[in-house]
Amino acid sequence: MTLRLASVKQLPSGWLWLELVQADGQMMPAMEPGQFVEVGVDRSPVLLNRPISVYNRTDRTLELLVAPVGQATKELAKYVPGDELKVVGPLGHGFKRDFAAGSRVLLVGGGVGIAPLYYQALALKEAGVETGVVFGMRTAPDSAVVERFGAVTDMHVCTDDGSMGFHGLVTEHPVFSENWDYIQVCGPKPMMRACLKAAVGRGVDGEVSLENMMACGLGACLCCVEKTVKGNLCVCKEGPVFNFSMLTW
Ligand SMILES: Cc1cc2nc3c(=O)[nH]c(=O)nc-3n(C[C@H](O)[C@H](O)[C@H](O)COP(=O)(O)OP(=O)(O)OC[C@H]3O[C@@H](n4cnc5c(N)ncnc54)[C@H](O)[C@@H]3O)c2cc1C
Ligand code: FES
Repeated sequence: MTLRLASVKQLPSGWLWLELVQADGQMMPAMEPGQFVEVGVDRSPVLLNRPISVYNRTDRTLELLVAPVGQATKELAKYVPGDELKVVGPLGHGFKRDFAAGSRVLLVGGGVGIAPLYYQALALKEAGVETGVVFGMRTAPDSAVVERFGAVTDMHVCTDDGSMGFHGLVTEHPVFSENWDYIQVCGPKPMMRACLKAAVGRGVDGEVSLENMMACGLGACLCCVEKTVKGNLCVCKEGPVFNFSMLTW
């Protein structure tokens, strides 16, 4: 689909908060929390689309939260409202949402891995599930992101340098050790591994959203495979969300 940029905000950290609408004025297709889209940044020398999580979706808009780290995402920072992007999606399988009444679900995000957890927090709130979020960053995150989560859930920030919130790792935050029924994690692999190990050690089930490098995004090139208990699986097609029990970590 061709999406038009309705607004672009560059946050103090450099992260981009993009709001897109359908160029032809149509409704935005349905999207599940945890799914992603492949964004074509045709002005960059990178020919491959880039996978970006659904940060939020409404009937008319798709929001993305992007950390400009390399060629394509840095080029995206130069796009202005009115510019158009070719976007493929939604792709992949999202987070579990069918929890029993009274369940408590902890969402844990590391860096820009926080992005898919906002739409999930909204969906769980709507379903009457109690949630909490622990958001780990090297240094103080953008207040726009923290405040947005804080409006829908119980938001806790951890920083490596102690510049905001709890000084330490997400797994060391007291909220992490509370009595949760399920944990959903997205962030750097070492952080996700630590969360999985800590949760499994306490008998808590959960899932992670993997951000393996991708090319086609459609299960054809095999560049995103993850070794699982069911063999090598394409993260783009079989994931990006996997239950803890699927991983060989
Ligand atoms: C399912 C999925 C969802 C994602 N959601 C988001 C999101 O919501 N917001 C966001 O900002 N990013 C997200 N990413 C990561 C994003 O796709 C990459 O940062 C992006 O592809 C980098 O492209 P580039 O051309 O700018 O960087 P490149 O020039 O390709 O690479 C720049 C640097 O980043 C490293 N890098 C590139 N991709 C990854 C990756 N996936 N994991 C670790 N290191 C990488 C490279 O090794 C290199 O050091 C997601 C990735 C996946 C697979
Ligand atoms: S990105 Fe090509 S198979 Fe997953």
